[in-house]
Amino acid sequence: MRTLPRYKLLASIKTADAFSDYIRLLGILWSFDEELDNGQRNTLGQPYKLNGRMIGNRFAVLPMEGWDSTPDGLPTELTQRRWQRSGASGAKLIWGGEATAVRHDGRGSPKQLMLLHRTATGLGRLRQLFVDSHANHHDHTEDLLVGLQLTHSGRFARPNNDHTLEPHILYTHPLLNQKFRLSEDYPLLSDSEIDELIGDFVKAAVYAHSIGFDFVDITHCHGYLGHEFLSAVERTGRYGGSFANRTRFLREIVNGIRRDAPGLQIGVRLSAFDMLPFQSGLDEIDGTQVPLADTPILFLSARADEADRLEGFRAGADDYLTKPFSPQELIYRLQALIRRSQGQSYTCVDVGALHIDPSRQEVTAGTQVVPLTPKEFNLLYLLARRPGMVFSRVELLQRVWGYTFVGNTRTVDVHVNRVRRKLAHFNGAGIQLATAWSVGYKLLPTHDAAA
Ligand SMILES: Cc1cc2nc3c(=O)[nH]c(=O)nc-3n(C[C@H](O)[C@H](O)[C@H](O)COP(=O)(O)O)c2cc1C
Repeated sequence: MRTLPRYKLLASIKTADAFSDYIRLLGILWSFDEELDNGQRNTLGQPYKLNGRMIGNRFAVLPMEGWDSTPDGLPTELTQRRWQRSGASGAKLIWGGEATAVRHDGRGSPKQLMLLHRTATGLGRLRQLFVDSHANHHDHTEDLLVGLQLTHSGRFARPNNDHTLEPHILYTHPLLNQKFRLSEDYPLLSDSEIDELIGDFVKAAVYAHSIGFDFVDITHCHGYLGHEFLSAVERTGRYGGSFANRTRFLREIVNGIRRDAPGLQIGVRLSAFDMLPFQSGLDEIDGTQVPLADTPILFLSARADEADRLEGFRAGADDYLTKPFSPQELIYRLQALIRRSQGQSYTCVDVGALHIDPSRQEVTAGTQVVPLTPKEFNLLYLLARRPGMVFSRVELLQRVWGYTFVGNTRTVDVHVNRVRRKLAHFNGAGIQLATAWSVGYKLLPTHDAAA
């Protein structure tokens, strides 16, 4: 089996040729000029117009915090030096400068900057140091666009000690809670606490405006709180579930800023998707870790051989695209998968002698109805949609009973046995709920059951 290329740090690639070779190896079709023009002829040196403002060139400094503030959240000499160097660099867009907490409990480190009433003047001076440094090394400063990144570290908050997480979470994440040893009943931020936090973001934005920043970045990236909202599908209430609810936090901050700091521009650094928690390498992909049963799976892989593709489909892929690929084709395929999966919960499944109809919550064997409780139905339906795929007990518990269910995996065994007993009245109905020893269960059509 071929091995996947190891991803390299871009900074370790020193020449255009090496870059070219590397992206070809990754299957990325991307052409670029191997020689850069200097000065005004360089595309990156050209101004860029945004919302009526002219930004002097197309170089941007990405947010990069050094966790070197004072305990009060004010810049230290090190912070100041970093911003001065950004100013000297010549980049005209400073995207957010660095993550700055809107209140103490949201700091990612006790040394993270904070923007509060008492720190606003100090942060204003920090911005001015950047502008002055730019003025000393370059001619204009009116074509700068300088923002400040506002954040709450949420699940990854360490406000009092660099080694101690003090998480604020929106929902019980099946993997992250486990990874950071948070119990299933670890308290969630309440809707009213979120309302209060929105107020803190708006206040911080008003301070940012008053001390001269052109925009604020309402961070929705890197797993911090803003980002966690986007995936709070399991959360109930005003900030979870539907897309409208999951974006309410952001939209309310934006409304508040437009109301209280008119003219301040707003940016959002957004992590648009999370990776599915697969290990690399097909061997480990059994699909059992995909958090939601309804999540369609597209494999985008450099492994283009037929054997690899077939193995991908056997492992549960709904689609498989090989590199190099056309980005537009990828988009169309994803749209098709989403379109289909949105109706998936109403898709009937035929397996063995069973016909499973989720719209009627009904399972029939020939003309007879198999009498199942709702939980038994959901369990059977989940297994039947991917015959042969092993579901662990924990996963079945999460998907059928929900992440917030307080119970143990014995519940799953009890229900599987009940479904088995009911199917026995129909001579097994052409399927077997097989035990995958020490893991969980899978559904097999009877002719495969011995495999
Ligand atoms: C030391 C360090 C601090 C960073 N701080 C922030 C931050 O405050 N906010 C943010 O959005 N990204 C932050 N990042 C991420 C960077 O903005 C950037 O996306 C990342 O380093 C990837 O780019 P690179 O491959 O050029 O390093 C930080 C990265 C590093 C290495």
